[in-house]
Amino acid sequence: MGACKNILVAVFGIVLAYFGSNIAYWFLVDGPRCPLPADIQTDYVRKHFDVRKLQGVWYELAYHDITQPISVCGCERSVKHYRPESNHIFDNFTLWCSETQQYANLTFNLNGHPKGHMHGHWPWLPMIVWPNTIVALGVDKVTDKYNWVIEFQCVEYFNRVAFTGINFYHKQRFVKDGELEGMMEIARQQGLGHWMDSGLKVHVVNHTGCTYPPVEQNLLELFEQY
Ligand SMILES: *[C@@H]1O[C@H](CO)[C@@H](O)[C@H](O)[C@H]1NC(C)=O
Ligand SMILES: *[C@@H]1O[C@H](CO)[C@@H](O)[C@H](O)[C@H]1NC(C)=O
Ligand SMILES: *[C@@H]1O[C@H](CO)[C@@H](O)[C@H](O)[C@H]1NC(C)=O
Repeated sequence: MGACKNILVAVFGIVLAYFGSNIAYWFLVDGPRCPLPADIQTDYVRKHFDVRKLQGVWYELAYHDITQPISVCGCERSVKHYRPESNHIFDNFTLWCSETQQYANLTFNLNGHPKGHMHGHWPWLPMIVWPNTIVALGVDKVTDKYNWVIEFQCVEYFNRVAFTGINFYHKQRFVKDGELEGMMEIARQQGLGHWMDSGLKVHVVNHTGCTYPPVEQNLLELFEQY
């Protein structure tokens, strides 16, 4: 719990430092607004996104995210499952920080949002809503399952971009040469290049030697279907 609290304090510190520096920036230049989901989504996502197929065990191959302390954390993994009764995705996101396993219990609300867009809630920063857009999907030609997904989170504060997160998730933790680069190229084609090149840029996660917490058997059985 102590380590967890330290991480929490670190996260708060980083977020506040980041927001603080951005406040100065907003007064100097006219900062960009968050794009509309439809403006950055591929045609496929806009027309065919199926939330049930977003369920599964996802390895974060790379990310752009100021809230993740890069030097002390790694092995990021997301286990997503959909709850049709509330139209929420529950995301059991885990990572290792300074030799301790961390859990971030995230929920994403799909009610009232366009296809492939949802609002995230994170108990660590309960006052912030994290609008999350599914930007692009890799669809397996044989099984029609999703192989990879690119997500973009954009938070506005006083009509200015205050936070952006980009997640490159894959069902496999080790991918063939060029595959992650291909995903990044698609992210740029969809207009995320500005954010990929700003701040801490895009960090590639090293999954070598990682161990992950076990996934509940009932979830693994559910994921088999999608
Ligand atoms: C996630 O965390 C919130 C806040 O701590 C809690 O209310 C909720 O029940 C948790 N969700 C699950 C599925 O554990
Ligand atoms: C990834 O981590 C492994 C194990 O810690 C290490 O041997 C390897 O050099 C790392 N690779 C990169 C590209 O940093
Ligand atoms: C998250 O997953 C771990 C195991 O992977 C499990 O022990 C824990 O209960 C899960 N958390 C929630 C809120 O479901």
